[in-house]
Amino acid sequence: MAHRVGIIGGDGIGPEVTAEALKVVRAAGVDLDTTDYDLGGRRYLATGDVLPDPVLDELRGYDAILLGAVGTPEVPPGVLERGLLLKMRFALDLYVNLRPFKAGPNRHNDGVDFLVVRENTEGTYAGEGGFLRHGTPNEVATQGSVNTRLGVERCIRYAFDLARSRAAKHLTLVHKTNVLTFAGDLWQRAFDEVAAEYADIATAYNHVDAACIYMVQDPGRYDVVVTDNLFGDILTDLGGAVAGGIGRAASANLNPARTGPSLFEPVHGSAPDIAGTGRADPRAAVISAAMMCDFLGEADASARMLNAVDKTDDVEGTTSQIGDAIAAAC
Ligand code: NAI
Ligand code: MG
Repeated sequence: MAHRVGIIGGDGIGPEVTAEALKVVRAAGVDLDTTDYDLGGRRYLATGDVLPDPVLDELRGYDAILLGAVGTPEVPPGVLERGLLLKMRFALDLYVNLRPFKAGPNRHNDGVDFLVVRENTEGTYAGEGGFLRHGTPNEVATQGSVNTRLGVERCIRYAFDLARSRAAKHLTLVHKTNVLTFAGDLWQRAFDEVAAEYADIATAYNHVDAACIYMVQDPGRYDVVVTDNLFGDILTDLGGAVAGGIGRAASANLNPARTGPSLFEPVHGSAPDIAGTGRADPRAAVISAAMMCDFLGEADASARMLNAVDKTDDVEGTTSQIGDAIAAAC
């Protein structure tokens, strides 16, 4: 049976890399029934709409959502991030942001192979806070960090299950427990209590600043990493850099409870500087689509897609030439 997938190509290179990802999914033999949604900067500039509620309700009905990237230089910062990307994360309860980091076989940093599980609905991104005396010399701005036991624990449990599925069976908690003593304490206690149920998983803890050093100097120590929303945002950009660059950085915004669709997207943005030139690398979108196929129960096709990305690691060319090469290798 075909999987029903909502496609949000978005802006700039978003639709270009999404088209290649879909090409590869089809070459891998996965049957998708896709519907395109015109959302993003272009739509906002034309109509003022970001994510109308009827569209959001429609998106709830899909098996998955595949997104390219949204953003155009004319749209003020925050409009699409809060109004589209974060709104979908919260409304669809996409509580795990999963990002794999695996260097390509032909790159000098071969051997990097870890995943970051980032809590995706809480922390400083939950929007708690506000202004007092806005715009005056006595202005106050607060931005709180929301950490619920339920939200933290379900994310940690997902990370332990993921670690169990891997050969190394190792999970590192990253936080800043020495300074963020309230949120950090909740995270550490939840982690320790869940760890007691997973005796087969070796665990470690790193403060986030130290993790930035280790991720560059000794990335091989990491297998699965679990962390909060803000630390995860920053750490995964670093992870992308050590694993060979933005061209391979993929992500899954997961609702592991499967009460609705999960959303898959490359980490990069709409790259307006190269949009329309055919220079966008579609690999991050292809890897994101492979994660989608895996989540939809198409593990064999997903593995073939990832293998095809590795086999064609040295292929250069236009966006569609790279997509064709990966598709042919599936
Ligand atoms: P960006 O990721 O779009 O581009 C950063 C640099 O990386 C640029 O030089 C670009 O050419 C290059 N690059 C990105 N993806 C590439 C690819 N697949 N192949 C080759 N080169 C690639 O980040 P930037 O410039 O900060 O943001 C541009 C727009 O994208 C902004 O409007 C921003 O808000 C939006 N954005 C959207 C995201 C999303 O939809 N999830 C994530 C990040 C940014
Ligand atoms: Mg980021």
